[in-house]
Amino acid sequence: MKKVAVIFGGQSTEHDISIITALSAIIRPLRLRKQYEVIPVYISKTGTWYSEPELTDVLTFQTSRIDEILQKAKPIWLEMGNGLTLVKGGLKTTKTRIDIVFPAMHGTNGEDGALMGLLQMSGVTYVGCDLRSSVIAMDKALSKVVVQTAGIDVAKSIHISKREYQKKPNYFIDLAKALSLPLFVKPTHLGSSIGISRNSSYDELTNALEVALHYDDAALIEEAIPNLIELTVPVMGNDMPRAGLVEKPRTDPDEFFDFSTKYMNQGGKKIGTQKTSQGSQGYSELPANITKELYARAEKTALAVYTALGCMGTARVDLLVDSKTDTVYFNEINPLPGSLYAHNWRQAGVAPVQLVEELIELAIERHAAHQELDHSFSSNFLRQF
Ligand SMILES: Nc1ncnc2c1ncn2[C@@H]1O[C@H](COP(=O)(O)OP(=O)(O)O)[C@@H](O)[C@H]1O
Ligand SMILES: [Mg+2]
Repeated sequence: MKKVAVIFGGQSTEHDISIITALSAIIRPLRLRKQYEVIPVYISKTGTWYSEPELTDVLTFQTSRIDEILQKAKPIWLEMGNGLTLVKGGLKTTKTRIDIVFPAMHGTNGEDGALMGLLQMSGVTYVGCDLRSSVIAMDKALSKVVVQTAGIDVAKSIHISKREYQKKPNYFIDLAKALSLPLFVKPTHLGSSIGISRNSSYDELTNALEVALHYDDAALIEEAIPNLIELTVPVMGNDMPRAGLVEKPRTDPDEFFDFSTKYMNQGGKKIGTQKTSQGSQGYSELPANITKELYARAEKTALAVYTALGCMGTARVDLLVDSKTDTVYFNEINPLPGSLYAHNWRQAGVAPVQLVEELIELAIERHAAHQELDHSFSSNFLRQF
């Protein structure tokens, strides 16, 4: 049986969401197949790695049992070299060689490429976006630049590093005056609406930037898209990606999602009589009740974004639409969507078990293609010294 390590938790604001993704969207369906030996690898909030059988039960994490388990458990460490081996100390050291890693970490130190770098160095097969695409995807400025060169519309924005801003704050505020109000200010690498503000005057920008740069070392100032409809599209595949259903999360044009609306299912009022679904963004229309033409354009844009960023496995593309002009703008991409966006794939005809299996197959395919590349190059360079 192939050994699949599911890595979750981690030092990120999305630690708890990662536990749900791992336990409900990955480990549970994988175990139903009985084709894989599933090994939970939990990274605590302080950054220690553990692998204990009880760490696959959500109840463990809902009670103080987790503290008891971690107190008794021996931490694990990694052995790398042509693959990945989990090593656990104790009376007798045990070693478990892993065949495939299924990353389930959201946000900083996980989804942002940090974990993928570690996995890539070890040479193990891993599911989802690779190091390069994860880094670009989790950077709201860089991803927009890359996507724009592929001919996809993005909101007009300026990108500011904290270091530069501290040297010449007025320069950036003056630069922003070329953009039309209202303006969104966002930390470049964060999610869950942390540190984001919508500003109706240029005077508010100084304070808004201070907040954003308190959380991150870079920020964006970005024009607001008017007459807003938000759409989100999960995508899956390597060279031939396909879209799931185009989904319309609940929106209020004068507000934007905060952490609780997204994840705690609050404020989930139903939209008219349309069919709604409780995804990781509260209630949504699934599929989105929009014109066929706009639906097709959203799908096409999502696929173009995914390809332009070099994503593999799966990702979710978030779009902003000006409903007066029907212009579709790329907003952001999540290289590891919460719960793999399984509710959307299920309605699109891909059952949760099929989803995780397909992602593992795509990982194996990607790994094989990577192995085929020639990583050696002989030269006489050293002889010259
Ligand atoms: N340029 C924009 N125009 C209109 N609304 C925006 C814009 N940027 C962000 N928003 C609103 O703010 C929300 C959060 O911004 P987003 O960039 O998606 O950050 P996060 O990573 O926190 O989800 C979006 O879902 C949308 O409602
Ligand atoms: Mg968003």
